[in-house]
Amino acid sequence: MKSTVAGTSLAKYRDAGALSRQLYERASRVMPGGNTRHSVALAPYPIYARSGSGCRITDVEGEERVDFLNNYTSLILGHAHPRVTEAVLRRVALGTAFTMPTPEEVELAELITGRVAYVEQIRFCNSGSEAVMLAVKAARGFTGRHKIAKFEGSYHGIYDYVQVSEGPTPDVWGEADAPASIIEPGTPESVARDVVVLPWNRPEACRKLIERNKNELAAVLVDPMPLGIGMIAPRPGFLPWLREETARHGILLIADEVLNFRLDYHGACHPHGITPDLTTFGKIIGGGFPVGAVAGSRRCMSVFDHTGALKVHHGGTFNANPVTIVAGLETMRQMTTEAFDRLNALGEYVRDRLRRLFRDTGRPAQVCGAGSMFLAHLTSGDLVDFRSLRGFSRTNPIYSDLCHKMLEYGFILSPRGIFGCLSTPMNEAELDGLVAALGRALSELG
Ligand SMILES: Cc1ncc(COP(=O)(O)O)c(C=O)c1O
Repeated sequence: MKSTVAGTSLAKYRDAGALSRQLYERASRVMPGGNTRHSVALAPYPIYARSGSGCRITDVEGEERVDFLNNYTSLILGHAHPRVTEAVLRRVALGTAFTMPTPEEVELAELITGRVAYVEQIRFCNSGSEAVMLAVKAARGFTGRHKIAKFEGSYHGIYDYVQVSEGPTPDVWGEADAPASIIEPGTPESVARDVVVLPWNRPEACRKLIERNKNELAAVLVDPMPLGIGMIAPRPGFLPWLREETARHGILLIADEVLNFRLDYHGACHPHGITPDLTTFGKIIGGGFPVGAVAGSRRCMSVFDHTGALKVHHGGTFNANPVTIVAGLETMRQMTTEAFDRLNALGEYVRDRLRRLFRDTGRPAQVCGAGSMFLAHLTSGDLVDFRSLRGFSRTNPIYSDLCHKMLEYGFILSPRGIFGCLSTPMNEAELDGLVAALGRALSELG
């Protein structure tokens, strides 16, 4: 492995004539904030990518780094996997978009419904946000109710209702047992009234809130390992309890697996032994192309059936576009049970090494995450819910300083937390390199 831990790989980026700097100046003239996706923002300007191969990205200055973000978890096979590239090129030459379905979309639908026992039917769209929006609409159409409940701090994309309280601050977040519904700018006040905000891992408080709204709640939306809540794992029994409680009131349970489908061949809810009514997918099922999917039981999914009593319209010019679908198909075929097991074992390996690093350096920290993902919190406080991350989440400047240091040493991590994910081209060497670089970065930052 090429070792960049010696650490000068940001010198060209910092140079007055850096290409990234020039590109950002041009971008800032024609795009507000100089970008088109907030999660790629980096101060003082982003590093522009030129190419990617396996687990590495080369930037426009020619520097190569190991990519632990993988387009925010979506590239489980890494960059430019030869089988995916070949499938895409073959498909592109045959035409990329038709006002007709293609055979490949049936194959991907069969593959996913064949793997995930709680998914009988599926429909494709173009992003995780769209998938979540469709699941919420399906729940409303199915139940005839209008409210939804979601967990404080959890991120589910950019649909008005699911953005409620995705990152509230202490001055507005209200009571711990009855969190306020905080809307995003640009969202009508009325949206707040239709969203019940639940505290993660607190069944007693959740029970009261669900009970109070039971006749109006169409669905409870849950991510089984929510990144927005610092990947604090659900307490034992919490998800099965939530499943029972929602079923008792005829409320649908929507599992958002847009990010977490990468946890398990059989779906992220499989290890918890629960059966959600609706599930959303995205990211890895598109093999590096824009994708989303809403899925669930035949009964719930019937709201989309134009041959029956259609209740939810589902259009989309590029839904199930064949380029995305063949990339997703090839990716999912590569992700056999053995491939999941290997990648998740590497995930366990890196989480263990990170714990050792923090222990050996006497630094208060806790390592969360599961499967092929890790998220380390620099706190020894009890991690229960979104509020227990106070002061250590997202906006804490230490994370962007750390991100810069890691870039210098040749590793791409999130600027909003010690968060990263693995891809199949990685081996222990990359993980050891990451942990060594992190140790050095933390000690330099003090
Ligand atoms: C859990 C979850 N749901 C939904 C989304 C939205 O997906 P997309 O960015 O494809 O719209 C994301 C994106 O990160 C996510 O992590």
